[in-house]
Amino acid sequence: IDADGTKHFSLTMQSGTTEFLSDKMTDTWGFNGSYLGPTIRASRGDKVAFDIENNLGETSTVHWHGMKLPAVMDGGPHQMIEAGETWTPYWTIDQPSATTWYHPHLHGKTAQHVYRGLAGMFIIDDEDSKKLPSNYGVDDIPLIVQDKLFTSDGQLSESDEGTFGTLGDEILVNGTYDPYLEVTSSQVRFRLLNGSNARAYHFGFSDGRSFQLVANDAGLLEEPVKMERFLLSPGERAEIVVGFEPGDETILHSYDGNAGIENGEFDLLKIVAASTLTESTPITGQLSSVQPIEAPKDAKVRQFKMTMQNQINDKSMDMYRIDEVVPAGTREIWEIHNFGSEHNFHVHNAAFRVLDINDKLPPEYERGRKDTVYIPNGAKVRIVVEFGDYADPKHPLMYHCHLLKHEDDGMMGQFLLV
Ligand code: C2O
Ligand code: CU
Ligand code: CU
Repeated sequence: IDADGTKHFSLTMQSGTTEFLSDKMTDTWGFNGSYLGPTIRASRGDKVAFDIENNLGETSTVHWHGMKLPAVMDGGPHQMIEAGETWTPYWTIDQPSATTWYHPHLHGKTAQHVYRGLAGMFIIDDEDSKKLPSNYGVDDIPLIVQDKLFTSDGQLSESDEGTFGTLGDEILVNGTYDPYLEVTSSQVRFRLLNGSNARAYHFGFSDGRSFQLVANDAGLLEEPVKMERFLLSPGERAEIVVGFEPGDETILHSYDGNAGIENGEFDLLKIVAASTLTESTPITGQLSSVQPIEAPKDAKVRQFKMTMQNQINDKSMDMYRIDEVVPAGTREIWEIHNFGSEHNFHVHNAAFRVLDINDKLPPEYERGRKDTVYIPNGAKVRIVVEFGDYADPKHPLMYHCHLLKHEDDGMMGQFLLV
């Protein structure tokens, strides 16, 4: 922390080796270590500043997924960090509490850079979120879920073939294969991030226990919602609070879904509750004090067509083309229609609420503030988007499919906030 109160963080992008599988060293990338990166935590109103050194030996970028900030600090494909250079973004955090994340966004290379291990969580706190379990690593547990395909000698297989690119058959949670967690509290908050390139997960527990969903991508829900299952596609986050009795044993599991990115059944994390637990009261009542995102009556409507060819509105990403110009600080309705294959949709520097999917209310886990939403094959999804209020007519922001192969293929467009 500086004299002026700015919180300073240093991140170094580096290569290394990680022992995921016993006795096999896997070549990986990470921030300040060999795989993934440190969790960054700051509060609404904080000034944050970063030194990000690129020691990868090749160009990359670091994007703040879910953050509202000036476009030039966004870390998208235009804010390249050349090999050996240091990038120094800074901004003031001005958005409700949320579990956001950071990852590279170099055009055409995002899938590879993320798959090798460059990703980390960025937690934003505010007065509302502090009412939930917040003791990091004790009753507030980050879980970054990623699927991997290993070669017989334990290297990451980067075969990017097929419609979706890599769909791994092994799961890492926080970079750990076959993980185990002992909890010591009767109420535990888990922050789940689907940090996979393409796979979607139907999260639930092996003993069928229910839990409270308290937040999704971009903030707390108005109140907790009890459920047994929810789906996260790549890039999406959710926070849940789970109750435990002493000695409980359960497995965080992903249940099989439709074919494609939802298919496959996986044990994700074995959880055992200690024989004595710190008692805390289950959460009830109002969580978020933030008003839901409402569409103004005269909201501008824009349409986005996603296709089998991994294009949006029949165009592939062009770094030198601006696709949409949006007045900063406004709310608009974006209609996203999937005409082929499976996709999702993420908007930079914005939060949105899902209005409907095929004219029906979204499932409960997709209500509230989000920044990424699954668009199943054939679906039409309408969202009301609240854009950040930093205008910048020079630096474009992105909207794209967060299946990283699709994004790299050019399933991305650029907008300016003016
Ligand atoms: Cu998580 Cu444009 O990205
Ligand atoms: Cu993003
Ligand atoms: Cu896609």
